[in-house]
Amino acid sequence: MSNILIIYSSKDGQTLKICQTLQTEIEMARHQVTLTALDEADAIDFSRFDKIVIGASIHYGHHDAGIHALIKRNQALLGSKPSAFFSFNIVARKPGKNTPETNPYLLKFLKKIAWKPKQLAVFAGKLDYPSYSAFDRWMIRFIMWLTKGPTNPDAVIEFTDWQQVQAFAQQVIKM
Ligand SMILES: Cc1cc2nc3c(=O)[nH]c(=O)nc-3n(C[C@H](O)[C@H](O)[C@H](O)COP(=O)(O)O)c2cc1C
Repeated sequence: MSNILIIYSSKDGQTLKICQTLQTEIEMARHQVTLTALDEADAIDFSRFDKIVIGASIHYGHHDAGIHALIKRNQALLGSKPSAFFSFNIVARKPGKNTPETNPYLLKFLKKIAWKPKQLAVFAGKLDYPSYSAFDRWMIRFIMWLTKGPTNPDAVIEFTDWQQVQAFAQQVIKM
C-alpha cells in the first residue's frame, strides 16, 4: 500500500473535482490518499509520503504563482520520489493541444521548473459563463471567439474526459 499526497490549486473548484476523482480511484485500489489545497500544503511533511501528485488550473495564461513557489521550495524532495503533475485548462479541449507533449501551458511550465515529474497529464477544464464576473465573462467569451469556442453567455460546458482522469489515476498507482 502506498501513501500518496495530492496537492491542488483551484479557483472555481474544478481542479479539486479532478483530485477527488483521483482520490476515489486510488483509494479503490487500496492505497492511502491525503488531499490538500495549495494554501495548506506547507503544514504537511512531504517526506512521510511515498508519492506526490500536484494539479493546477490555468487562469489568464498561468498556473497560480504559489505552485511555482511550492515546487521550488520542495524541489529536492519532489525529485527524490515518484511524482506527477497535471495542468487543467480550456485550451486542452482542442485536439492537438490536449497532451503533455502538445499543451502550450504545460510545455511552458515545464521549461520554468527544475522538477521532472515522472507522470504528466493535461485535462480539459470547465466553461461556466453564468458563474463568472462580468469582466471574466467578457474576457473568456472574447478568447473563445478568437479560438472558435462557445460564446453563448449562458453556456456551462464541462470538457473534461473523466476516463482520461481515471487512466491517470492508474498511472499514479503504477509509478
Ligand atoms: C477568469 C478565468 C480565466 C481563465 N483563463 C484561461 C486561460 O488563459 N487559458 C485556458 O486554457 N483556460 C482558462 N480558463 C479556464 C480554466 O482553466 C477552467 O475553467 C478550469 O476548469 C478552472 O479550474 P479551477 O476551477 O480548478 O480553477 C480560465 C477560466 C477563468 C474563470
